[in-house]
Amino acid sequence: ASEGIATKDQNQVLNIAHRGASGYAPENTMAAFEKSVEMKADMFELDVQMSKDGELVVIHDTTVDRTTDGTGSVKDLTLEELKSLDAGSWFDESFTSETIPTLGEVLDEYRGRTGILIELKSPSLYPGIEQKVADELKARHLDNPENEKIIVQSFNHESVQTFHDLLPQVPVGVLLGYSPEGISDEQLDRFKAYADYVNPSKSMIDALLVERIHDYNMKTHPWTVRDRESANFLLEAGADGIITDYPDYVAPHPSK
Ligand code: G3P
Ligand code: CA
Repeated sequence: ASEGIATKDQNQVLNIAHRGASGYAPENTMAAFEKSVEMKADMFELDVQMSKDGELVVIHDTTVDRTTDGTGSVKDLTLEELKSLDAGSWFDESFTSETIPTLGEVLDEYRGRTGILIELKSPSLYPGIEQKVADELKARHLDNPENEKIIVQSFNHESVQTFHDLLPQVPVGVLLGYSPEGISDEQLDRFKAYADYVNPSKSMIDALLVERIHDYNMKTHPWTVRDRESANFLLEAGADGIITDYPDYVAPHPSK
């Protein structure tokens, strides 16, 4: 372990817009991704699931009920059915024209313009989703070793390992919810065999945990910041990136 705990210059920290800039536009829509770019975030995060007919779609919940005008499970609806839904009005009437994007549409629009943090959401519901995501990336040459702008993560660590085995050059992260036991050295040792990022709930983070993750040669992008106090706390703790609904709570890179 290093002596003392270094705090980072805020400009070194990646500003990651959670589900796009979801404080300002409906989550996981092109409007939210556009807002993320406009606000000069370094990356946006999105959640990927699969339609009944095997298309990769960008939506957080396993049902469409909360974020569209429809009802039912994502896995029971075809792409055509999912595309017919209004994915914006629940947030604000000015977003009526937003629909559920496909992963391909998002990659085509934003590759090279911003980083994209792809979460495999509930992958146990979607056998083969890791291969499909790998295929979408490969088709666009986004599996290059020099490409640091795509990261894949999941709460399902088996799924992260499966994806890593398919495209070892794309960085991957493990997501962790709050646990009162914290994160053990044994866990960190297991993660470092395949993962580049350990991304816990912000409630788990302190400077010591950040230092331990760094000692295992991994980085950390905690989530989800919805107030300035939390953003400042994570900056002080030395987080490498901050996943936030409000990209303006984290300073843009000097290059932006
Ligand atoms: O990127 C981390 C964060 O998105 C994980 O939680 O529920 O917002 O997908 P959730
Ligand atoms: Ca997510």
